[in-house]
Amino acid sequence: MKVISAASSKGGAGKSSLVIGIASYLHWKKKKTMILDLDPQGSVALWLSNQFEDIDPIDPDLLSVEALVPDGNDETKIRVIANRLGELAESGDYDYLLIDTKGEQAKITSAIGAYSDFVLCPTNGHAIEFEPVVKTYMNLSTVIKELGLPTDPDKLFSVILSKRKVVESGEVRSSQKMLAERFNVIPGPTESASYNQAIQFGTTIDRLLSTVQTIRDTSEVAKLRANAKRACERHEKSLETLDFMMTQLLNGEEL
Ligand SMILES: Nc1ncnc2c1ncn2[C@@H]1O[C@H](COP(=O)(O)OP(=O)(O)O)[C@@H](O)[C@H]1O
Ligand SMILES: [Mg+2]
Repeated sequence: MKVISAASSKGGAGKSSLVIGIASYLHWKKKKTMILDLDPQGSVALWLSNQFEDIDPIDPDLLSVEALVPDGNDETKIRVIANRLGELAESGDYDYLLIDTKGEQAKITSAIGAYSDFVLCPTNGHAIEFEPVVKTYMNLSTVIKELGLPTDPDKLFSVILSKRKVVESGEVRSSQKMLAERFNVIPGPTESASYNQAIQFGTTIDRLLSTVQTIRDTSEVAKLRANAKRACERHEKSLETLDFMMTQLLNGEEL
């Protein structure tokens, strides 16, 4: 089981959307995926509450450390999380575990990252977002050292460029280059309309795609067909972008 967590000290950076995008992609690729929402905002849990049969949601409280060890100190909580992740990995029931984390840097968030295979930090790459990126990385490195793990934070941590309007504007090109000199930077989700629709309908992007494909191919109404065609292109592009991102992330490893 591979564990991917989304982390950034910045709220609204795109963590929850990224988790929903990757979940959609893995669903499309028929991978058994478990999702864990550790963000009190609960965006992913809300999305999951429309339970799909193939994406296996878990009770969002299951790994809520506050519920497991209400009065434990950080060390106890971190140990409980590590054990739980170990149990899940050993069960062999899932190919992937995706974790959405809090938009603030609690030690627990960094510890979850330390026990993950990949920590993804979404940003639009603008210089004003350097601070949360660097902070997220620094906290992760510190916790890895404290826990005495052999993990290399530079291999664990990737910056994911999201939010196309900003990402593709000339204004941020030089700041993105600076980020890429220091971190593993990968282009990420860009088609916000796909995400917003997936969230709105409580479904995955690939399911939205198959619905609009049916409309495109069967509708008698020309206007519906044309709209469905545009929607198809959008969702296809979305899945393509996710495919590119995951391929880069896995660096030749099999999905
Ligand atoms: N790749 C993206 N492109 C455009 N808009 C995005 C993208 N990712 C997120 N957003 C928008 O940014 C806002 C915050 O995203 P969200 O995923 O909830 O961030 P976080 O979980 O880090 O707080 C949402 O309105 C979402 O629609
Ligand atoms: Mg969120």
